[in-house]
Amino acid sequence: MCGIVGVTGNDNAVKILVEGLQKLEYRGYDSAGIYVNDQKGNDYLVKTKGRISQLREKITPDVHGSTGIGHTRWATHGVVSVDNAHPHFSNDDRFYLVHNGVIDNFQEIKAQYLSDVPFKSQTDTEVVVQLIDKFAVEDHLDAKAAFLKALGLLEGSYAFLLMDREQPDTLFVAKNKSPLLIGVADGFNVVCSDAMAMLRETHDFLEIMDGEVVTVTPDTVHIQDAAGKTVERKPYHVDMNADETDKGTYPFYMLKEVDEQPNVMRKLAQTYLSEHGEPQIDDKLIKAMQAADRLYIVGAGTSYHAGLIGKRLFERLAHIPTEVHVSSELAYEQPMLSDKPFFIFLTQSGETADSREVLVNVNDAGYPSLTITNVQNSTLSREASYTLLLHAGPEIAVASTKAYTAQIALEAILAKALGEVNGQIIAQNFNVRQQLGLVATGMQAIVDEKATIEALANDYLMKSPKAFYIGRGIDHAVSLEAALKLKEISYVQAEGFASGELKHGTIALIEDGTPVIGFITQAKTAGLTRSNLQETMARGANTMTIARQGLAIEGDNLVLPDVDEMLMPLLSVVPAQLLAYYTSLNKGLDVDKPRNLAKSVTVE
Ligand code: G6P
Repeated sequence: MCGIVGVTGNDNAVKILVEGLQKLEYRGYDSAGIYVNDQKGNDYLVKTKGRISQLREKITPDVHGSTGIGHTRWATHGVVSVDNAHPHFSNDDRFYLVHNGVIDNFQEIKAQYLSDVPFKSQTDTEVVVQLIDKFAVEDHLDAKAAFLKALGLLEGSYAFLLMDREQPDTLFVAKNKSPLLIGVADGFNVVCSDAMAMLRETHDFLEIMDGEVVTVTPDTVHIQDAAGKTVERKPYHVDMNADETDKGTYPFYMLKEVDEQPNVMRKLAQTYLSEHGEPQIDDKLIKAMQAADRLYIVGAGTSYHAGLIGKRLFERLAHIPTEVHVSSELAYEQPMLSDKPFFIFLTQSGETADSREVLVNVNDAGYPSLTITNVQNSTLSREASYTLLLHAGPEIAVASTKAYTAQIALEAILAKALGEVNGQIIAQNFNVRQQLGLVATGMQAIVDEKATIEALANDYLMKSPKAFYIGRGIDHAVSLEAALKLKEISYVQAEGFASGELKHGTIALIEDGTPVIGFITQAKTAGLTRSNLQETMARGANTMTIARQGLAIEGDNLVLPDVDEMLMPLLSVVPAQLLAYYTSLNKGLDVDKPRNLAKSVTVE
């Protein structure tokens, strides 16, 4: 949610900032801006509504500098406009600030300290930059002291990058809850919300902790903790190729990421399983989970949906009661917990503010936790007791695909590991390595059927304003994810529904031609779901059936290869991802960057 970048000590600052912002566009894309200073008395501010491509168009050849900051916005306070776009600046033009996060008490600060200051924007960020300026001018403080004084008054979440025209080679950096990294490059330094933005400049990054204030010049990085003490910290290496963040010949990242899923399955099997299929998971983690009497899976959006499948896997394979919670709900309404809870955080980005809020509570209470994430060193990974990485490679399209299947596959491996040590026969007999191999082959067969799936999207979904995905049990859990995929990128009002529950009210919405798509992958409920599909058809629905081979009958629209029923979501979700993709594509929408959304949601 909002991406920020900074650079100091490189004459190509404009290019580095704009390319960095392009990589961070997934975090927000309603407006953008940069501020650069050349240390020789010239500086430039360029802001625009819209995408980074529009920012590029507004940057004239004379705009240059060696130090600068940039921002791509997902609006929180104030409409989308040039005035509300970052960087924001003080009325005397001395301080420039970019911000990711939300300042909860900005109205109070404005009333108490800045009642006589005219404002150019409606943002919380401008309040902060005017406040810093006020302290610098009235209290005769240098930039860092004024910044610290302002930070002491703020409540909320932030990652800030501040520049002072009087010290134009220095970036002043602070964070609370929102992510921010310093990149140590050859002869210059950079700052970014996500390492991905700066991989062309460096692979060595320094973490910043909440409460720290960092001063970055071309050749120094000085970290100071909340008590004012200097902190020594070594950079860590990010082992990711910059090319992995490109979309290559694909028209959209989403299609690339759907296609990558077979390889992600193989990679997870290689990483977490021996050649003979034995789980290779940290013993301490397994012991901590074994000591628990109940698992609590926590996630948002697609990650929550992956948790719904995880519940079935942990309960069946490891025989441990498991609850799944939406993080934004659990953060403020805790149910009665068991005596020995163990929390599992599912989060592709490792930064989701709602999930982090739950983790803060979990840590305060002293409960053990595991974060399953795609991003090494992300906030939730650092703050949980244990981490397992998804190894899915960067996921850039806002609609999550390969992270969902990677989360489910890793939950299956973990459930198998836990089930084995718990002496569960079903876990001992579950050959997860072989199954993931079958899943990878099955996924490949489905992604090779793109033309068929595109035709189905055209026939069923293009013309209808609404659609239903239905199923029972695990199939119901997949139907929730299928509906989310469709609505977020094609704007079709889609609902995932427990097929047996339809007749208790929602069937009233079925009209002539309403698309109803049924998942049939579980033997126990196949017949019932088929009957429920018939009931909608009798009321005019345009039904589509996605069934696994062993349960398929003539007339089914898509037949999926058979794998263990517990892992069928890994296959049944793939056509749903592609149905959403082609509906969005053929409506001419921006598949990767749907309206109103952002990939990494770092505000609550
Ligand atoms: C946003 C994204 C979703 C994602 C959710 C949770 O809403 O658009 O695709 O599922 O955040 O993100 P996380 O990084 O915690 O998995």
